[in-house]
Amino acid sequence: MSLIAWVGVKGAGGASTGGLAVASVWRNARKVLFAELDPAGGDIAARFALTPDPGLVQMGAGFRHALSAEEVWSHTQTLPGGVPVLVGPASAQQGHALGNLWEHLGPVLATLPDTDVIADCGRVQPGSPVLELVADAAIVVLVARSTLDGVAHLRARLAVPMSDAPVGVVLIGERPYSAAEVEAAVAAKVIGVLPRDDRAAAMLNGEPGSPAALNRSSLVRAARDVASAIAGVARHQETRNSALAEQAS
Ligand SMILES: Nc1ncnc2c1ncn2[C@@H]1O[C@H](COP(=O)(O)OP(=O)(O)OP(=O)(O)O)[C@@H](O)[C@H]1O
Ligand SMILES: [Mg+2]
Repeated sequence: MSLIAWVGVKGAGGASTGGLAVASVWRNARKVLFAELDPAGGDIAARFALTPDPGLVQMGAGFRHALSAEEVWSHTQTLPGGVPVLVGPASAQQGHALGNLWEHLGPVLATLPDTDVIADCGRVQPGSPVLELVADAAIVVLVARSTLDGVAHLRARLAVPMSDAPVGVVLIGERPYSAAEVEAAVAAKVIGVLPRDDRAAAMLNGEPGSPAALNRSSLVRAARDVASAIAGVARHQETRNSALAEQAS
């Protein structure tokens, strides 16, 4: 129903992990799908010792002209914690080879029945094939480090809008700059902070450990707040878009 474009800013050092943390606590009336759409190559297969198929590469091999919701689901796998994932290309070469599949992904992921999609778009370089998909998103989440260089990269990223959708910033850590300081420096809303938490990050990326401890970790607790902030914006956008569609008809 809503596509959330999850975009890493250079040096974030936790964008993909943060997206996965948010997907793992997505508690709405809807399902969630974590789509690994970083054209530079994904990490999930390696981190969770998954086979690349089913996944985006296999989907690309069978793709002809159109893509349906059923085809998307048939190419997903499920992580040990239960989150469905669309495993991405393993390398930039594989990402490039997906050709015009990229332009068909946005519309289908933005309208997947009863499902919100968190799409890890990587860093979104100029000319990136994932740019069209970002244009279909209900919200663009920019993930950045709250350091001098992280904030500089964030500001540069914000200066080149990728979509008309609202933008929210998620910080990895709040040192040395607080969310309020970053917000003032970049003139964009910080919707949450995911703390540095090595143990929880390792478990979110497939290392063994106690699920109860992960659940109580500062990272997962913060991910819950980020998830509800994002869901609030996404619902607002859906209501607005359906009102606009009604007016137009
Ligand atoms: N909140 C965190 N606290 C501590 N370590 C983290 C955190 N988030 C991620 N990490 C660790 O940092 C490394 C990079 O994480 P991740 O792949 O999420 O970064 P990324 O921003 O998506 O990187 P890339 O730009 O390469 O896609 C991983 O080893 C991960 O375990
Ligand atoms: Mg990443």
